[in-house]
Amino acid sequence: MMKKITIAAVVIGATFLSSMAISQGGEQKSPEEMAYKYRDSVFHALEWKSGQLGAAKASGDAAAFKGHATDMASLASMITEGFIPNSMIEGSLAKKEIWENWEKFEGLAADLEKGALALAADGYDMADFDPRTFGRTSCGGCHREYKARD
Ligand code: HEC
Repeated sequence: MMKKITIAAVVIGATFLSSMAISQGGEQKSPEEMAYKYRDSVFHALEWKSGQLGAAKASGDAAAFKGHATDMASLASMITEGFIPNSMIEGSLAKKEIWENWEKFEGLAADLEKGALALAADGYDMADFDPRTFGRTSCGGCHREYKARD
């Protein structure tokens, strides 16, 4: 009985290890590619959450609105770590101005975080939320200067 369990554990362990080797060996990504993938994911999550804010407002769900706004603030705080040096790789829309004006870029990310926290604050009335204005200022304000047109 013990022996069977041990063999099963070894087989499962070996399968797990080889599947890890395949996923690691199959795609050797550079740190720059990894950083680009990371930030692109953060931005797509932000895009999704922006939509969810509008949906929560439309359905009158204040608790959901607050939750999505809180998530957006966390996501906003994760933006800058994805912009490692020399990561304007193929496919990226990042402009070199980001690294030339790093403090300003960081400031715009911090503004998005603050803006999202304001939406999540107790007492904020989601009736005041205008998705287009929010998108134009909080997202577009940074894109205009630091994201190439796709
Ligand atoms: C601090 C600057 C900054 C802020 C704030 C910002 N973005 Fe971006 N965003 C960028 C940059 C730079 C890129 C390009 C990154 C790359 O391709 O390497 C980008 C890329 C994207 C992308 C993927 C590329 C594309 O055009 O489809 C999406 C989606 C996106 N942002 C959505 C948003 C949304 C939604 C918000 C606001 C809730 C937002 N961003 C706020 C700088 C910003």
